[in-house]
Amino acid sequence: MAKTGKPKEMEGEVYYPSEQVIAQARLKDWDALAEKAGKDLEGFWADEANELEWYKKWDKVLDDSNKPFYKWFVGAKTNIIHNAIDRHLKTHRKNQLALIWESEDGKTERTFSYFAMNREVSRMANIIKAMGVQKGERVTIYMGRVPEIVFAMMACAKIGAIHSVVFGGFSVDSLQGRIDDSNSKLVITCDGSYQNGKIVELKAIVDESIKRCPSVENVIVVKRVGNPVVMESGRDHWYQDLCALPIANGKCVTEVMDAEDPLFILYTSGSTGKPKAILHTHGGYMVGTYSTLKYVFDVNDEDRWWCTADPGWITGHSYLVYGPMINGVTTFMFEGGPSYPYPNRWWQCIERYGITIFYTAPTAIRGLMRFGESWPNKHDLSSLRLLGTVGEPINPEAWKWYHRVIGKETKPIIDTWWQTETGSFMITPTPVVPLKPGSGTRPFFGQEAEIVDEEGNPVPDNTEGYLTLKNPWPAMLRTIYGDDERYVKQYWSKFPGRYTTGDSAKRDSDGYYWIIGRVDDVIKVSGHRLGTAEVESALVSHPAVAEAAAIGLPHDVKGQAIHTFVMLRTGFSPSAELAEELRQHVSTHMGPIARPEDVKFVDKLPKTRSGKIMRRVLKARAQGLPEGDISTLEE
Ligand code: PRX
Repeated sequence: MAKTGKPKEMEGEVYYPSEQVIAQARLKDWDALAEKAGKDLEGFWADEANELEWYKKWDKVLDDSNKPFYKWFVGAKTNIIHNAIDRHLKTHRKNQLALIWESEDGKTERTFSYFAMNREVSRMANIIKAMGVQKGERVTIYMGRVPEIVFAMMACAKIGAIHSVVFGGFSVDSLQGRIDDSNSKLVITCDGSYQNGKIVELKAIVDESIKRCPSVENVIVVKRVGNPVVMESGRDHWYQDLCALPIANGKCVTEVMDAEDPLFILYTSGSTGKPKAILHTHGGYMVGTYSTLKYVFDVNDEDRWWCTADPGWITGHSYLVYGPMINGVTTFMFEGGPSYPYPNRWWQCIERYGITIFYTAPTAIRGLMRFGESWPNKHDLSSLRLLGTVGEPINPEAWKWYHRVIGKETKPIIDTWWQTETGSFMITPTPVVPLKPGSGTRPFFGQEAEIVDEEGNPVPDNTEGYLTLKNPWPAMLRTIYGDDERYVKQYWSKFPGRYTTGDSAKRDSDGYYWIIGRVDDVIKVSGHRLGTAEVESALVSHPAVAEAAAIGLPHDVKGQAIHTFVMLRTGFSPSAELAEELRQHVSTHMGPIARPEDVKFVDKLPKTRSGKIMRRVLKARAQGLPEGDISTLEE
């Protein structure tokens, strides 16, 4: 990709796709398709849906008669697994690799063709059914990055159960809240997982969590690390033992689902209160993840696709599991992290497996940049043809390093903006779109974004405002599971008729969007989405803490880091030891990713007259910035 300087028609620094990239791209004329989709949204999505298989086609593409409860492909019958696995078995893809996995220590490689995926997923599906799980019931999955997590998710989908994956880096309180809210009767876990050579005791965390979860009847435990675990007779079952039973055969009929039937819930942090269960469906999510991955990363059967996200986050759901398999590509999954035992671990995997498309997060790039170019330069990265980024704004410095050192200045960087709620890419280039470092460029086909002020009026170009989306899209969340009211309030009330993203952004005069960050109390730590409320409630569960506030402040590698302010109960006094104990307390209860960067002891917290903590004021003070409107401030 050549940087051809500043052409007169575009502002800022622009990187144009090379002729080779354009020649390779399946979609050469971005503008034509954007225009077509803009004129006929339903027609565009119907064409996309028609590329997939349905047991029965839809009566109506989009039903918007009960906004904001949009429905897609109404009346259609399908199952996402039919398109992600079953249909491939009738084609040459049957014996192509669906999944390649490598262990953290690099000593084990496991591969599964689409044929083998069908066998493994069917086997797990039969086991889940034998545990009494019925269509529409929830199953919590809390595992490390092993192939069985993919089987578990897909097995639930296959039988019409709703999976709820909880990131394996979360701990007792986070897991307990999510199991309880979803009312899961089955939990699927591992004895433990590896993290940088150490063992995370997943089963022990499950045991502790479900003491307070009466809904759980059975726990399936996949043996991975071989650490000692307590198995409660009648409740806990080793997966490997279940696999030896006759019920666990590799044949299972895929359940026929309505397009609008729930596929999964995924908890994510919002502005207030406890995490929300974002609900996605079989039909729309299937079409959305299929189509976006096809156009945006231009995937084809020869690709070896690597999305480094954990399956416990939406990126893992949409673009490690479902999107790639619906597209029939080979997806690579790595158990470990980027720099253990050495910072060449990822580059080694790219070389070893001939990865062609690599999709990761800015925080990882910034982290790896620190180790210098010599690590990637030890490896042959020439198999790569496209690079991607997601999760937080990418600073131009990291973009340029990624482009130069990993992409050898010839591979486009696809910066995809989207959310747990959107299910699929929303603002993103395709390989043929000219790039500007730090911008996700323009909305995906059929979408229109608008930046508005507090009253909902569009703001002029190059002015910061609230990022809103104007059109419905197939992979959009349908609701917050069990809380329709909160769904309406959270996403559709501030600016009626449009989806509120919770982000602030600017648009430049070329129509390119630049994400600035969250406008609510969501903190993005290393691309992981956490809520201030969860961190605060973990802190106040400690006997020494009377009140607590958490904010996110800029951090060179993590993007944002958690800083906390704590008011102690009488009888406790501030000390470095207590601060450390509180950080550890949050880590134990919520998970290591939520461990605060620091704990400051304070005598008072800025609050509104109604008692709400003014985190914005804390944030401004910590950064030495003006405090803004403090007319309602009371300390
Ligand atoms: O603030 C935006 C940021 O991540 C938020 C969504 O977080 P989550 O639901 O965890 O999903 C992350 C992966 C899809 C958004 O509201 N974000 C995500 N992608 C980008 C981004 N910010 C800037 N650029 C991106 N490419």
